[in-house]
Amino acid sequence: VKGGFDSFMDKEIHDQPKAVADTLLGRTDASGDLMLDELRIPETVLRSIDKIIVIACGTAAYSGHVAKYAIEHWCRIPVEVELAHEFRYRDPILTPRTLVVAISQSGETMDTLMAVRHAREQGAYVLAIVNTHGSTIPRESDAVLYTHAGPEVAVASTKAFLAQITACYLLGLYLAQLRGTKFADEIQETLQELQALPDKIQSVLDDEAAVREVAQAMKDEPSFLFLGRHVGYPVALEGALKLKEIAYIHAEGFAAGELKHGPIALIDTGQPVFVIAPSPRGRDQLHSKVVSNIQEVRARGARTLVIAEEGDEAVVPYADILFRVPQTPTLLSPLVAVVPLQIFASELAKAKGLDVDQPRNLAKSVTVE
Ligand code: BG6
Repeated sequence: VKGGFDSFMDKEIHDQPKAVADTLLGRTDASGDLMLDELRIPETVLRSIDKIIVIACGTAAYSGHVAKYAIEHWCRIPVEVELAHEFRYRDPILTPRTLVVAISQSGETMDTLMAVRHAREQGAYVLAIVNTHGSTIPRESDAVLYTHAGPEVAVASTKAFLAQITACYLLGLYLAQLRGTKFADEIQETLQELQALPDKIQSVLDDEAAVREVAQAMKDEPSFLFLGRHVGYPVALEGALKLKEIAYIHAEGFAAGELKHGPIALIDTGQPVFVIAPSPRGRDQLHSKVVSNIQEVRARGARTLVIAEEGDEAVVPYADILFRVPQTPTLLSPLVAVVPLQIFASELAKAKGLDVDQPRNLAKSVTVE
């Protein structure tokens, strides 16, 4: 059942090219336009929404963070991302023009379900992005966009995360198409870039041996920091979460720009710091800002583990260890950048002799509040 892998997590990491491809499959018509028939919310409503609130827990919430960057950029709709349990117990402002997007692998997470109920009671439309057919959250939502990752067994989410991000991109591009906030050819171009992602993820998997070797060598490290900007920020958060969940190592993800506002005080000689470098081909200053952040932590003695695009030479002098990922447009880059971090966590947990699939104190689906 583990397909020859040591753990379900490893198998599921390797299922990721297919999880992304299957989530994209069948969602365009003959002319290449996006068609999300399952999205049974009336088009008039989707045209009039003035705010999106993503609610989720754990890894699913980080997919929502990625969605915020993409949907705001493509659709010019404000997107908030909130942990479902926090959303439920404040007094969120919801109107019939609010679209609440509930993201969940299991479709059974009680915190998320309670938030869905609350949102609907307040008159908001709720769209579920869920992996498990027939689960409770989609049944209680106005519409559902299924991720097609297949069953995920390991407690630590991997392929469901990539499928959730993919579904969020589809939602964003669909809204952009419907609301005319992007030209048809731009949407087509992004869709084509998205179609190229499964092969790119595969090429990261093909290079996994190097990541595993580093993870084994670092198995006794007591703490790791993760830095990222823009969409690299949720990738940093997810990289840290994976290490906490399965390797029981103290790990924190930070927005790289926040470094000088606190976290840099943690940097001491030998502190391992992962940095997710954005594409140097981006038009803004993202890349150069992150290169400065790498220099800053390294100057204070950190050991830097840098995830960077192929061809990015600017990071080379400051990376103690460099993991390459294929060139990808910035907004889509989390789909490749997170993969080495998943492999790293899995290998490190294994090297420590831990049960990768069933970490202590955690459940795959938390059905109590
Ligand atoms: C946690 C799981 O309890 O629930 C995480 O350990 C998961 O892996 C989170 O990300 C949310 O679960 P779901 O099923 O709602 O995506």
